[in-house]
Amino acid sequence: MGDSNIFKNFINGEWVESASGETFENRNPANSDELVGVFQKSTADDANAAIEAAAEAYKKWRLVPAPKRGEIIYRIASRLLKEKENLSRDMTREMGKIIQETRGDVQEAIDMTFYMAGEGRRLFGMTTPSELQNKFNMTFRQPLGVCSFITPWNFPMAIPSWKTMPALICGNTVVIKPATDTPLSVANFVRICYEEGLPPGVLNMVTGSGSTLGDTLIKSPQVRVVSFTGSTETGRKVSEGCASNFKHVCLEMGGKNVEIVMDDADLELAVDGALWGAFGTTGQRCTATSRLICHKDVVDKVTSMLTERARKLKIGNGLDESTEMGPLINQAQLDTVLGYVEIGKKDGAKLVTGGEKLTGGNYDKGFFVQPTIFGEVTQQMRIWREEIFGPVLSIAKFDTFEQAIEMANDTNYGLSASIYTRDINKAYTAMRDVYTGIFYVNAPTIGAETHLPFGGTKETGNGHREAATAALDVFSEWKSIYVDFSGSLQRAQIDNS
Ligand code: UN1
Repeated sequence: MGDSNIFKNFINGEWVESASGETFENRNPANSDELVGVFQKSTADDANAAIEAAAEAYKKWRLVPAPKRGEIIYRIASRLLKEKENLSRDMTREMGKIIQETRGDVQEAIDMTFYMAGEGRRLFGMTTPSELQNKFNMTFRQPLGVCSFITPWNFPMAIPSWKTMPALICGNTVVIKPATDTPLSVANFVRICYEEGLPPGVLNMVTGSGSTLGDTLIKSPQVRVVSFTGSTETGRKVSEGCASNFKHVCLEMGGKNVEIVMDDADLELAVDGALWGAFGTTGQRCTATSRLICHKDVVDKVTSMLTERARKLKIGNGLDESTEMGPLINQAQLDTVLGYVEIGKKDGAKLVTGGEKLTGGNYDKGFFVQPTIFGEVTQQMRIWREEIFGPVLSIAKFDTFEQAIEMANDTNYGLSASIYTRDINKAYTAMRDVYTGIFYVNAPTIGAETHLPFGGTKETGNGHREAATAALDVFSEWKSIYVDFSGSLQRAQIDNS
């Protein structure tokens, strides 16, 4: 990559400039004076070159024994661990989230990488008896080929690792297009993978906009798997683009996650959870808590406890260890958040705290907004229904537990939900009846671990899961094998009496 802060695409094991000759800037969202790097504005030709390289590399990579693939992936994990601090600092500089959280992001990539390295010695299929004599039946996972990834800016290394590592361990090859706001973390990730022994062409990166590159990455006939994390609106287009060629497509999209607070809850704990769930990552998580529904007897207390805590949050540059909330990612996200504040007010919600852009001093150089809480939110309001992706929490109240469940499910999304209660019966009932892919008891809506499936129901996903062994289903296909050692023709369903 050279000494300068000009970053190139990574194709077939080499850092190369885009055919366009054009670049774009990556600036720190906490300080627009700070240029993090200059990246290639790639074209469809660049994407095609990366896909070609991946297709060529696939021929050999699929034949490398999975435990050997696992050894390389294990080395990558160890190296990520070694470089964790620098990788985290780079990530805070380009993404804005606080350093404790970027350390968590890199740790999530490390966890996923170690986990999938271990899969190299598992990738279990099954053996099962045949209905016929002297016949042996078994299954194994076979890879598909080239995978395209379109990854988001909110988890700049964790999410690329969730997609890359299961794809590689299964024997596929990859082209990744990072979000234009956070390409440095993916460049770092790709560099480490390559330096630790991944063969040329197995993992390729092209930077640039989704509108220019998306079509090629999704529709190229050589691409067999597409994995996308981002908005439901874009996910729908990705899905349509993949449909005519019957590609595997894994979509992780929006959320409108709810925390339920029962009247018997430990309120301090519930407030801790809501604060972390709503304002961690400046609310820019698919799993962020954006609806807080409280029993009518505790709603006022919870609202005032939370408001007091939210007002005290220290907002600033995430590299300062004492900062508790960083900026939003960019101007567009700031406009969206401020737009929803206006929508909330207009729809009749009560603005309890926040709602303003922070100004003065260093704040003028970044996209800083106050942690925002709306009370008296009702189910018709847009701030109840639509994903905001910012530090805006909507509070509503309920009378009965049944009503809480109904309200929790009153959303087009289904990623994550949580309940705070000391009543085990209610906890288990909610666990069963709230229709999401992830559910927490006495914990916030954020904080998924890499060895459990990650994903959601309804318009959050398309039925696939990332992470855990569930991810292997996206990146492999089952092959069923029948070996007849009887020496004669045996007809299934006919000669089995
Ligand atoms: C996301 O917001 O897209 O559970 C991913 C969590 C994190 C992952 C979030 N481990 O909040």
